[in-house]
Parts: sequence; structure tokens; C-alpha cells
Amino acid sequence: MKTKEKLIIRALNGETLNTPPIWMMRQAGRYLPEYKATRSIAGDFLSLCYNPELATEVTLQPIRRYGFDAAILFADILLIPQALGAKLWFVTGEGPRLSTITSQKDLDSLGQVGDIDAVLSPIYKTVQNLSRELPEKTTLIGFAGAPWTVATYMIAGRGTPDQRPALDLIKSQPKIFDALIDKITDATIHYMSRQIDAGAEVVKIFDSWAGSLKGNLFDRYSTIPAKKIVSELRERHPNIKIIGFPRGATNEGYINYANETGVDCVAIDSSVDIQWAADYLQKITCVQGNLDQSLLVSGGEKLTSESKRIVEALSKGPHIFNLGHGITPDADPENVTKMIHAVRS
Ligand code: CP3
Repeated sequence: MKTKEKLIIRALNGETLNTPPIWMMRQAGRYLPEYKATRSIAGDFLSLCYNPELATEVTLQPIRRYGFDAAILFADILLIPQALGAKLWFVTGEGPRLSTITSQKDLDSLGQVGDIDAVLSPIYKTVQNLSRELPEKTTLIGFAGAPWTVATYMIAGRGTPDQRPALDLIKSQPKIFDALIDKITDATIHYMSRQIDAGAEVVKIFDSWAGSLKGNLFDRYSTIPAKKIVSELRERHPNIKIIGFPRGATNEGYINYANETGVDCVAIDSSVDIQWAADYLQKITCVQGNLDQSLLVSGGEKLTSESKRIVEALSKGPHIFNLGHGITPDADPENVTKMIHAVRS
């Protein structure tokens, strides 16, 4: 079977490979001059996301330049709120802004899950294009934000350092908060399922703000919604591979998340001790991570030695090499080449 030969799929099937496959979070992005050129043709970031030809082009750019083992669909986790009827715009240099959801009235103003395709169909077209155009050995990854992370943006109307508005809503309006989580969860299942129909071979759940959920809130709002997404997707698509990224979880949180959700791979952030990941997490599941993305800015000997240290530590089990978080706009594209060389040599 053709897909069986792809390195990422082999790692996700639990195979220990001599050299780990590689891709990077935010691999299509502002550190690449060709990305900036295409983005300026599109006009702005959201127009780029909703333009299948240009979104396909920027997804392919890092594959052409570096030969990564996976391409990740070019889109954003905030397209789901937009498809549900929230207003969304990006302020240059500041990040996303959304109309806020904090009351029953706000919740009632959102559209139905079954209607999100009216907005999201260009994204499925991008996935179809990519599935045709990618090299045979390259795995196509689709994604969505996890319900908690998406909810933090919908409640605050923007990114927040500590997710305080969402944490406060859990306390002050638990029913509204839970209804919002359920709605995002259902929309996410629908959205990812359509990405898989269009050709995504792997999907990744980005819970970028999972670390702010302490104690049993982590289980309740990160693990349990992810578990539901995983089980519903597997019911509809038995062969789908799923990566979970509960960024900033505790060691215990990462282990419980892996066990409870049954994801095929857990992505870990740079704060996780790699030897601990090898000794414990990798015994349960494939591990993806976790080079500190700031090393792609600073480069030097440390970039090479840290890349090799991660590969070495995770060499006795299934591993996909990646960063601890997305590559930043100030990264040097040459350093990415050095990182790949360090991993593959
Ligand atoms: O990884 C990839 O290359 C695929 C595309 C992708 C983007 N965003 C493109 C993007 C993915 C998987 C995301 C996920 C995403 N988006 C997350 C979860 C992962 C993470 O980084 O924690 C979050 C929290 C968002 C929300 C979001 N989108 C923010 C907060 C911002 C602004 C911050 C910034 O870097 O400017 C975005 C914008 C965004 N999403 C850009 C890209 C390439 C930059 C847009 C631009 O070109 O100006």
C-alpha cells in the first residue's frame, strides 16, 4: 500500500524508524520570503486562507524548499468561530480580534454546525488540491483548534496571556461555557471529517492554551473534548491518524491525555524534558517534538546539538521531529536547513 510507505504514517503506526520524519509547526509563514510574496498577492491573511489556489501554493512552498515529510493545510484555528458566525479580523502586529461570546444571547446568535461548510468549503478545496499535488512520500495533515483553545479566543475576543476571561466564564456561567465547548466540539468533528473526506491523511488537534487548565479542568476541557473528537472521527474514518497537542500540560497531564484520548501521537512543547518523554510518554504513544523554536532564530552550534539530542533521546520508539511551538517570523530560513541536516545525518 502506498500510504504505508510514508514515514509519518509509519511513525504514527508505532514504528521506530532509523531517522525520524520531520515537519514544522507554522512551516508556511512569514519567515519565508516566498510566503510574504504570495500573502501580498492575496492582500491579507484571511483572504489567503480562503483562496484555494494561493493557500495550496503557500502550503507547498516549504515542501519545495526543504522536502519536509508532511505538509500542513494552510488555514487557521479561528476559521471555525468565523464559520459559526463570529466576526473575525486580524490587526497587523497584534493578532486576531473576534466578536465575543459571553452570554446566552451571544450563544444563540451563532449559526448551526451543519451550516459551517458555506464558509469553509474553500478550505476543503485546498485539501483536495494538495492531495493531488503533493509528492507521493509527503503526508497531508489537516487540523483544527481544540475546543478549549478556540473558546478562549471566542470569549475574550482576542488572544490573552493567561486565558483569564475564559477561566472566569467557567466559574460565572458554567452552563454557557459548557454549551460553547459542546458547540465547538461538534463543529470541529464536522470540519475535520470533511478535511479527511477531501484527502487529509492525518489530523492534528491544537490545544495551544491547554496549560492554563489546572487540576480537573484539564481533564474536563482538554482531554474529554479531544477524546470525543477522536472517537467520532475514528467511527467515520477508521484509518485516520490523529495527533494531539495539549501544549503546556503537566507530565501527568500529557500521560493522561495520551491514555484517555487514544490519539496516535502526542506533540510536546519545548518545556518537556526529552528523557522523561522517552522513558514514559513514548512507551504509550508516538511522540512529536520538541526543539525550541527560538533556536531557529539564534542558530549556531546549539541548534545542531539540541536537534541531535532530541533525535538521540527519542531513537528507541516512534518519533516525529518537530518544534515545541510554531516557527517565528524572525527565524532564519538557513537555520531550518541546518536543523534538517542535523536530524537526517
Ligand atoms: O502550521 C502551519 O503552517 C499551518 C497553518 C496554521 C496557521 N495557524 C497559520 C497562521 C496553523 C496550524 C495555525 C494554528 C493556530 N492559529 C493556532 C494554534 C497553534 C499555535 O500557534 O499555538 C493559533 C492559536 C492560531 C491563532 C492565530 N493565527 C494567531 C494567534 C495568529 C496571530 C499571531 C501571529 O503569528 O501573527 C494567527 C495568524 C496566523 N496563522 C499566521 C499564520 C501563517 C500569520 C498570519 C500572517 O501572515 O500575518
